[in-house]
Amino acid sequence: MTPARLNKEYSKHRELHKKLDEYASDILSSESFQSTRVHVQHGSIPVHRHCIDVAKQSLTLSHILHARVNEREMTRGALLHDYFLYDWHNKEARPKGLHGYTHPDSALRNAQRDFDLSDIEKDIIRSHMWPLTLRRIPQCKEAWIVTLADKYCSTLETLKLKRGAAQQYIENRRRNQSVQG
Ligand SMILES: [Fe+2]
Ligand SMILES: [Fe+2]
Repeated sequence: MTPARLNKEYSKHRELHKKLDEYASDILSSESFQSTRVHVQHGSIPVHRHCIDVAKQSLTLSHILHARVNEREMTRGALLHDYFLYDWHNKEARPKGLHGYTHPDSALRNAQRDFDLSDIEKDIIRSHMWPLTLRRIPQCKEAWIVTLADKYCSTLETLKLKRGAAQQYIENRRRNQSVQG
């Protein structure tokens, strides 16, 4: 990647992280959301990073589609869409049934307990596994976009495709800052 391209990518991710902080600093800094760093989602990607990637991808996608969305609620719903708070690879730790079907309910229950949710945020969490959960069709633009962004991010994670250099750079920088601070 050329320095100019890296710079552009870096600016893009910095802007996205600014929006995440603006809309959802309470979620991002909460102990329970932080605890999702230790649970693996797909491949070697923690749930924490997956949810942040889905939120950033949702903002990017809505921009590309020129969709008039409520960015704040879409971001918060995306961050909480997999807020199930257990290691889904561990049969003892998760509810009975297939994780793909059960975790939206677990995430919604936990999110309602810990945060005040709008109807859009509830819809995003409830319907994000569509079409697997056949009857839970997204009811708003924000939920459609998060559903698409989730599938996009999950596919990249499952196929273990490399993350962009700029994204890796900004994440390393943020991690170093938090260690120093
Ligand atoms: Fe999910
Ligand atoms: Fe997800």
